[in-house]
Amino acid sequence: MTGGQDHWNTVYGARAEDELTWFEATPSVSLEYISAHLQPGEAFIDIGAGASRLVDALIEKGFGPLSVLDHSAAALAVSQLRLGQRGDHIDWIEADITDWQPDQTYALWHDRAVFHFLTDANDRAAYVGALSKALRPGGIAIIATFAQDGPEKCSGLPVVRYDAQDLAQELERLCPGGFKVIEARRHMHITPKGNHQSFQYSVFRKVAA
Ligand SMILES: C[S@@+](CC[C@H](N)C(=O)[O-])C[C@H]1O[C@@H](n2cnc3c(N)ncnc32)[C@H](O)[C@@H]1O
Repeated sequence: MTGGQDHWNTVYGARAEDELTWFEATPSVSLEYISAHLQPGEAFIDIGAGASRLVDALIEKGFGPLSVLDHSAAALAVSQLRLGQRGDHIDWIEADITDWQPDQTYALWHDRAVFHFLTDANDRAAYVGALSKALRPGGIAIIATFAQDGPEKCSGLPVVRYDAQDLAQELERLCPGGFKVIEARRHMHITPKGNHQSFQYSVFRKVAA
């Protein structure tokens, strides 16, 4: 259970993007990892992107093709409005990640603060099923969740917190032999109000079949 579309449409309708606790003016850790593992011309997707400015930075750096997925139309509308014509080439996908059938493959899958909302094991299995289908062999998945010492809730919803080992074990359980950890690190996010939130970033490579 991840709150449902109505919850998230209300959230994005009620507050400006730069007031949301997860707002990053510059998504620096994500950009560092993406720049290390993606080439311009390779397909990228941001899962549960919300109104994130990550895609703005990727356009600026010449990356693409870019896809942005979120189940909240209100969140996607914020980014579409902000980007204007710069967003014309983005594939905007309004979908629930636990119920999404990818129709192409991607070189890089990015998820910041979405997987941790999947408190139901069936939803996590569906997510990893979509990940396995969507990522090309040898492709990279960057998954950032709240760390074990991070908040217990986000946007009023319960989350599952992970350290690098927990997350790797969960992927291995759901897709045995499917993904190899390349690197992992902790990161302290500072919210717009100055609160500290401990995140865990992991980078996986999909094992070539
Ligand atoms: C905490 S926000 C993070 C947004 C963005 N990744 C960032 O770092 O700014 C979580 C996002 O995940 C989206 N989301 C939650 N559950 C989802 C699901 N099941 N399928 C697709 N998107 C989902 C929400 O609409 C929201 O935009």
